[in-house]
Amino acid sequence: MVSRVIPVDPFDLVIFGGTGDLARRKILPALFRRFCSGQMEDESRIIGAARSDLTRDEFRQIVAEAIAEFNTSKDCETGTVEAFLERIDYVNVDAKGEDGWKELSDLMIPGRVRAFYFSVAPSLFGPLAERLHAHGMADADSRIVVEKPFGRDLETARALNATLAQHFDESQIYRIDHYLGKETVQNLMAVRFGNMLFEPLWNSQYVDHIQITVAETVGVGGRGEYYDRSGAMRDMVQNHLMQLLCLIAMEPPAKFDPDAVRDEKLKVIRALDDVEPANIVRGQYGATKGAQDYAHDVENPRATSESFIAMRVNISNWRWAGTPFYLRTGKKLKARSSEIAVIFKETPHSIFGAEAGRHRNILTIRLQPNEGMDLDVTIKEPGPGGMRLIDVPLDMTFAEALGPEGEDVPDAYERLIMDVIRGNQTLFMRGDEVEAAWAWTDPIIEGWETRGDRPVSYEPGSSGPEDALVLIHRDGRRWREIRS
Ligand code: BG6
Repeated sequence: MVSRVIPVDPFDLVIFGGTGDLARRKILPALFRRFCSGQMEDESRIIGAARSDLTRDEFRQIVAEAIAEFNTSKDCETGTVEAFLERIDYVNVDAKGEDGWKELSDLMIPGRVRAFYFSVAPSLFGPLAERLHAHGMADADSRIVVEKPFGRDLETARALNATLAQHFDESQIYRIDHYLGKETVQNLMAVRFGNMLFEPLWNSQYVDHIQITVAETVGVGGRGEYYDRSGAMRDMVQNHLMQLLCLIAMEPPAKFDPDAVRDEKLKVIRALDDVEPANIVRGQYGATKGAQDYAHDVENPRATSESFIAMRVNISNWRWAGTPFYLRTGKKLKARSSEIAVIFKETPHSIFGAEAGRHRNILTIRLQPNEGMDLDVTIKEPGPGGMRLIDVPLDMTFAEALGPEGEDVPDAYERLIMDVIRGNQTLFMRGDEVEAAWAWTDPIIEGWETRGDRPVSYEPGSSGPEDALVLIHRDGRRWREIRS
């Protein structure tokens, strides 16, 4: 199978925070891979913009090192790095002052698409938008890309939306949630809306419950200060898990177009019920031999944020009334594993009698690692001895099903950055969507803050706190095992 790469028109991409961690780990390697694939025309340019007083060559050196360290692509030819570096420029810009802005605007080539990537602290989003506008760089060919966190509650998100709206139209604002760029997340839509098989069963009449798990083995890393101000609810649930929930639960949009898709996602968020305290479990990882606990990692002995959260969530609409969604995410868990599992109801009657056992179909969409899907189906256990039934997976691991292309799954940022250049907002969050997500999240957080609830401790390398098991056992169900 040969994948089609459609080159995009020459563009200018300015990365504010071009020397920062996200730029080095994700944005620059993603651009390099797109360059290798032939999608970026030679005239396109990437312009790093940051406060550091660097020459173009010094920045090129940073880019070369980032590629050496973080590029995972196997298909870039030797020599491509030099060609890619030729596309790189650098401007020393002060986001809050006047330095560098004239130089940056002089660099812009009129008439071509230009994207400004705000890979900086959210407090700089406003000043950057304002200066781009003041220096004539907010015209119709311009678009801005903003990273999470997009606010820390409804009020701050609204304020941020209002500030950006003063200088850019909504159609020019690309709010990134990198989960939407993951290949398997897009596959979720392909599976639901490209097959006749699932959609008729996709409702509370046939689906018993849905589990969404995003488990990580890493701790908070070097981001303790940010993380402790956020906790798993703000860091993961309000955005990534919410997006997964929307895609799995939304009504079929009339077409795969930005507003059609985002309108449907918004309806899901607005149909979410408040979550009772009894349906929430928050946890903090403890210490193990050789590794410190959460409070030490975030350098806050009185830390009350959660590094794990599990919730039972209900969507009050015709399709989903009566089908709970169980969400869970956490750090320092037993495996890195993200999946969505749709657990169908048991057959209404078993013709094989009680001994055949109770069986149900489960559709699992594995986001990472080992991207793919499987569908558990019930068959007869081979051999004589009557009708004994077993469940076996119909496995579609992309790496196996698609050959080499399935193995080299593009990073989310590759897809998303190219969508920015092409002007396609389908996989980006609209302002009202982000606000609706905060409107649902805020009372939940306020609730535990007012009650003074503290997260319970869990053992690193486990599946999370015992209470999370109770949360689902109580309903006569059980979590799927976390395994990679
Ligand atoms: C980020 C969160 O948005 O997503 C991190 O801030 C988290 O805390 C990361 O580790 C997970 O992303 P991925 O792509 O590794 O699943």
